[in-house]
Amino acid sequence: MFVADCLTINDKGHLCIDQADTLALAAKYGTPLYVMSESQIRTNCRRYQESLQRFYDGNGLIVYASKAFCCKEICRIIAQEGLGLDVVSGGELYTAASVKFPGEKIYFHGNHKTPSELVAALEYGVGTIVVDNLEELSLLDRLACAQGKQQEIMLRIKPGVDAHTHQFIRTGQIDSKFGFALETGEALLAVQEAARLSHIRLTGLHCHIGSQIFDTEPFLLAVRVMVGFLAQIRQETGLTLHRLNLGGGYGICYTPDDDPPMYEAYLQRVSTVVREVCGLLDFPLPYLLLEPGRSIVGPAGVTLYTVGSVKEIPGVRTYVSIDGGMTDNPRYALYQSRYQILNARQAAQPQTMRVTLAGRCCESGDLIGEDLPVQALAPGDTVAVLSTGAYNYSMASHYNRVPNPPVVMVRDAEDRLIVKRESWEDLAARDL
Ligand code: LLP
Repeated sequence: MFVADCLTINDKGHLCIDQADTLALAAKYGTPLYVMSESQIRTNCRRYQESLQRFYDGNGLIVYASKAFCCKEICRIIAQEGLGLDVVSGGELYTAASVKFPGEKIYFHGNHKTPSELVAALEYGVGTIVVDNLEELSLLDRLACAQGKQQEIMLRIKPGVDAHTHQFIRTGQIDSKFGFALETGEALLAVQEAARLSHIRLTGLHCHIGSQIFDTEPFLLAVRVMVGFLAQIRQETGLTLHRLNLGGGYGICYTPDDDPPMYEAYLQRVSTVVREVCGLLDFPLPYLLLEPGRSIVGPAGVTLYTVGSVKEIPGVRTYVSIDGGMTDNPRYALYQSRYQILNARQAAQPQTMRVTLAGRCCESGDLIGEDLPVQALAPGDTVAVLSTGAYNYSMASHYNRVPNPPVVMVRDAEDRLIVKRESWEDLAARDL
């Protein structure tokens, strides 16, 4: 019935996450409230690692994409689980560094890294910088030279693969702001340039074709293109690159209708095709990196809200207002994303209403969803929006000067605060 294993219903009929009663959490911490299941996050990490072990002899690394959900505690958990970390800004790097995340397992991405971010990465000893463009390549070489270092890098490649997903979260095709295109010869040029620079050590290629992808075919196509390019590089430059990073993008369940293949199946197919193509091209099996974000943390989160008003417009729709909205979850406004919602007190009851869940901002588009089935809702009820662990907290804004909710982590029914609630004072603290 539920979109994630960490969700259950207790004998009072209340929704529980990692065995903690969501109504008790809402009463203790207030709403809106993000709640994450630590057990689910750790299980997801282990499933990925076990699959890599099983299907690819463990010859690689699972790298958590921290853009999906970044705070100190998740960096600690990811480090404990032995995964690598993908950061995409100085802020994410700073967060990782503040809990002493092992530098050699950090992958620094982004299409516009500033000079000061690159300096910070070099100083911290970030293991791999995934270079996006020629300007960055020469800047990094100069900055590494100034620090007397040789920096290991990968190049971000656009494999020209169209992943079947929302256009804003699709990145692998030629018309994308990310990386070097293959078709134009730009990617090969970048390889040659990187090989020439003395403070850069090019060891591999990276691609990321998009996010929330259910279809395995685009991933397999990307593998074929990328391994083909590795072989072409060897042939044209004599350089054998030993690492292949295939990015993230594995889809998750947001509603009971979603049916993504299990990531064991992804990994099995991806590994098979890597072996197959490497065999055909007589290329050594590369060290494989995968960068899941959403599928590690997404199913592990729920957001709890308190209902304000219920406005039934006869023959039109019923608006249910909540004490949060696009400031803590902009995904419906941005991508028309669908979510499963529940009345947390009556989670097992039949869903007798269809509602538009409306946020509190002065913006008609501030909705969490439309035409959503849910149990009867009245003012004061607690609504749970499921699968909000990824790209909710990390994409929160302060529109209308609404403070961001806190984050509570639960493990085996034990809850703890991991990010404090913002106050109005916090919001104005930097104003002069
Ligand atoms: N690696 C790279 C280089 C990426 O750009 C991304 C996501 C990932 C890994 C992780 O992808 P995932 O496994 O989470 O799909 N805000 C959008 C999603 C944007 C994804 C951006 N890049 C959303 O809310 O759907």
